[in-house]
Amino acid sequence: MLRRPRRNRKTEVIRSQARETNVGVENLIYPLFVVDGQNHKSEVKSLPGQFRMSLDHLLNEVEECMNLGVMCFDLFPAVEESLKDQMGTYGYSKDNFYLKYIKQVKSRFPEAMIMTDVAMDPYSSDGHDGVVRDGKIVNDETLDVLAKMTLAQAEAGADIIGPSDMMDGRVEYIRNELDYNGYTDVSIMSYTAKYASAFYGPFRDALDSAPKFGDKKSYQMDPANKREALVEAELDYMEGADYLMVKPALCYLDVIHMLKEEYPIPIAAYNVSGEYAMLKAAAQNGWIEYDRAMPEMLLSIKRAGADVILTYFAKEFAELNKA
Ligand code: PBG
Repeated sequence: MLRRPRRNRKTEVIRSQARETNVGVENLIYPLFVVDGQNHKSEVKSLPGQFRMSLDHLLNEVEECMNLGVMCFDLFPAVEESLKDQMGTYGYSKDNFYLKYIKQVKSRFPEAMIMTDVAMDPYSSDGHDGVVRDGKIVNDETLDVLAKMTLAQAEAGADIIGPSDMMDGRVEYIRNELDYNGYTDVSIMSYTAKYASAFYGPFRDALDSAPKFGDKKSYQMDPANKREALVEAELDYMEGADYLMVKPALCYLDVIHMLKEEYPIPIAAYNVSGEYAMLKAAAQNGWIEYDRAMPEMLLSIKRAGADVILTYFAKEFAELNKA
């Protein structure tokens, strides 16, 4: 045998020379759930280890994570039901606590990168990402609301805007809104191929944002489709997105890989709540070795082609890596 692949696996030193992929804390974005109030920190039942936090706890969390090297955070607001309406107006209201939190985090930690969520669902009394008319989610009217949310978040100091709504034409629409108002440096990480997935359940528990009727299949993609992601990617790329995201991650590694091959900008993947919850549940039952399975999952997402991974594992990964 002239070629014996095992020679390149014989010691850890050799193995680390031969290693093709590495995940580092710089690749990770940590999603955090925030609520209005003070001294509030409650665990999300279906997301063990993840919390809804008021500003005081949020600032502590951000500081702890930054000490571990995690520098980028995606904030999601859990909004009281009484503040929700059909047009999601609280999303860009001057009293919105989420906008105040963004401002506070940025003034306390200017070097932290803050990503924000643009979609109507946290604020919509219908629990949908767009405006509902006669039981349908209307596209073009929604764009106006998304643009208002975007501008409010940019004014609050957001570094990266994350449109997670899947309306057609929204990247160009919000890019224009940002640019006309002087926010040419604010980035857009577009949820490009966001699938109508069953793996968002725990997230909707966290925000209490499940649709009040129907489902999201008229705007989120069919899990059966791969080529269609190229249509979404081409549009987002041409409309000025700075990153293209695939969501969820683990069931869609082929889509991540395809976008990485086709587009010369950073590819992001959202390792969603259901993916986190599955591993946590198995670990709690003693059915899987968490400390090995978790980095293996992140590695698979990176190997598929993701440059950036949004993941609830971010802090624990950083702690493991430091140890
Ligand atoms: C909604 C939104 C969802 C997630 C992020 N933004 C859920 C949905 O589309 O219903 C899911 C994230 C996760 O499951 O971790 N705009």
